[in-house]
Amino acid sequence: MWRPVPEMAISVENTPVPLALLISGRGSNLRAVAQAIDDGRVNGIIRVVVSNRADAAGLEWARAQAIETLVLPHQDSPSRGAYDEVLVQALKSRGVRLVCLAGFMRVLGPAFCEAFPQAVLNVHPSLLPSFPGADAQAQALAHGVRVSGVTVHFVTPELDAGPIIQQSAVLVRDDDTCETLSARILVEEHRVYPEAIQRIIAGGWHVDGRRVVTTPVSET
Ligand code: GAR
Repeated sequence: MWRPVPEMAISVENTPVPLALLISGRGSNLRAVAQAIDDGRVNGIIRVVVSNRADAAGLEWARAQAIETLVLPHQDSPSRGAYDEVLVQALKSRGVRLVCLAGFMRVLGPAFCEAFPQAVLNVHPSLLPSFPGADAQAQALAHGVRVSGVTVHFVTPELDAGPIIQQSAVLVRDDDTCETLSARILVEEHRVYPEAIQRIIAGGWHVDGRRVVTTPVSET
């Protein structure tokens, strides 16, 4: 079973932390993180944007910002392990310290998670552990929950199951469609993801079992 290792210092003396953003589509969370960096809310620098799809709209935006982009189509890899290995090499060779999945619709395996211990984050459009996987907003509507939301969590090889860093609730309305609920959740994603990324960068936390908790000052 995959187990997290003790916290490693991600940020060194306030130097911006090299980030990789992994996308598969639109890239609105990518843009929210980039905006938060520009505003000084996230002490990071985007070293590379990686997509497993050449047609991801977020790639075009990144190129326009002169951010390096990389397309790694997963169909080209003989296995999940081989794909993960190529991805790890690509990120390590660029000095990436923190990997942020932003709509990256592909499961990363144990080798990838071990290469970046407690340094792979994901944003998911539901209150996990409810509604993991694809179409979380549609799953929530179909189930009839009155509250859904957003979760930022550490990535482990088990889908959408890693320790939770931050969550925010969004009320479901009677007249919600998948589109209207998704839109309100997305607003929260754009607020919460940069906050969670900065929390991890800033340190002063540790993982206790499944819980991401603040480390008492006396122990830092
Ligand atoms: C976001 O809603 C994100 O939470 C979701 O994909 C969307 C990507 O949008 N991710 C997942 O469902 C992962 N399981 P974006 O490309 O505009 O950031």
